[in-house]
Amino acid sequence: MSNATEVKSPNTESKTAHLTLPDGQSLELPVVVGSENEHAIDIAALRGSTGHITIDPAYGNTGACSSDITYIDGDKGILRYRGYPIEQLAEHSSYAEVAYLLIWGELPTADELSHFRWLLTENEMLHEGLRNAFEGFPPYGHPMAILSAMINASACYHPDMMQLEDDEHMPLAAAKLISKVRTIAAFSYKKSIGQPMRYPNPNLSYCANFLHMMFSIPYARYEPEPEVIRALSLFLILHADHEQNCSTSTVRMVGSSRANLSASVASGVCALWGPLHGGANMAVIKMLEQIQQTGMPVSEYVEKVKKRELKLMGFGHRVYKNFDPRAKILKKAADDLLSTLGISDPKLDIAKELEEAALTDEYFVERKLYPNVDFYSGIILNAIGIPTNMFTVMFAIGRMPGWIAHWYEAFKESGRICRPRQVYTGPNVRDYPAAK
Ligand code: CMC
Repeated sequence: MSNATEVKSPNTESKTAHLTLPDGQSLELPVVVGSENEHAIDIAALRGSTGHITIDPAYGNTGACSSDITYIDGDKGILRYRGYPIEQLAEHSSYAEVAYLLIWGELPTADELSHFRWLLTENEMLHEGLRNAFEGFPPYGHPMAILSAMINASACYHPDMMQLEDDEHMPLAAAKLISKVRTIAAFSYKKSIGQPMRYPNPNLSYCANFLHMMFSIPYARYEPEPEVIRALSLFLILHADHEQNCSTSTVRMVGSSRANLSASVASGVCALWGPLHGGANMAVIKMLEQIQQTGMPVSEYVEKVKKRELKLMGFGHRVYKNFDPRAKILKKAADDLLSTLGISDPKLDIAKELEEAALTDEYFVERKLYPNVDFYSGIILNAIGIPTNMFTVMFAIGRMPGWIAHWYEAFKESGRICRPRQVYTGPNVRDYPAAK
């Protein structure tokens, strides 16, 4: 593997920010500048020099690190992995190539890619002990709970995933996680529907192999259309990284305690589960189904959202205030896939109607709310045959390279443990009541 990921420090401009505090103290703070000319005030010396901290609940304005991996310009709707525009990767790349790019910083050569694919194939099986562990879960267990538990448990069977003191082990550890997460996901699905687990097939590509494990049965091998494989690959590419989102920040935070890679990404799975993050893809489909089943006019749903009785799931984003480029690609992909497969899904029509209603409504315009990655992705997953309760698992499979890349970047920096501070607002000191 090439080792192009050199962790760079951001430039510190000669400019400084001047801060004056109410008690008269003042401080010069360095201004750091990123490679896309983003400016940030470095407040690391603030507390030591003045006794003050900054407060920024939900971190809307806080840069937790500098990173070489992904660039987003939310006002312009730009997303790039290692400098490559997401639109170009979506059109020309494969998921394995994107995973390699994210983790190692450069597109692989043909030999590097074929070696990486070989590693993925070599590591697609689960240890029998881990496979047997599925028996400990009830069939109705949520696949995200199972995924997180199994990723953590996999380190028990692969202790090498916990020994990453040098760079040598990283390619194997990364390949093991990216490969096995797909086997774990498919096995948990088979278990939930009472079918025998299908072992991976080393002759298939990453996405085709996943579909085989999901949908083949002992007497009938599932043969997906090439468009289905391509749609799945596109879905995974578009979900592969998104800089310091909630789950990735969680992975970096957990990793900062020097927790091992699999423990750190297992915690990322838990963070992703929530409906404000990756869980939104399930919530969108439930919302569209509810509108479809109740026959509620889209205009009525939008009015309820404006009255805050409901939320328009799959809309809004902390960073994108123009459009989410992933949603644009997925909308077209949903249209293309459904027409190729000859599927007519009323949910796609409802989604388009909702989008149109929202984009022309003052409430959404004023707040700069646009469809995000989760708005159309569920329609594609539905068409592929993925059950709704697996949608967030699909997001997790896609995000695995991003989590690994961020964990590795932070690991190589060997920075300090992440430990935010707080402003305490509880009771002042008081005495424990005397015994009666
Ligand atoms: N429907 C209705 N109103 C919304 C929505 C929405 N989906 N999203 C934001 N708003 C309103 C919000 O009520 C607030 O209004 P006001 O200023 O009057 O109180 C304003 O827009 C700003 O919203 P916010 O909650 O302060 O924004 P945030 O940056 O904290 O949250 C978000 C971002 C994505 C969590 C939020 O937009 C949301 O809950 N969206 C729905 C869930 C969703 O689709 N999540 C997936 C996000 S993209 C993929 C991922 O990260 O996993």
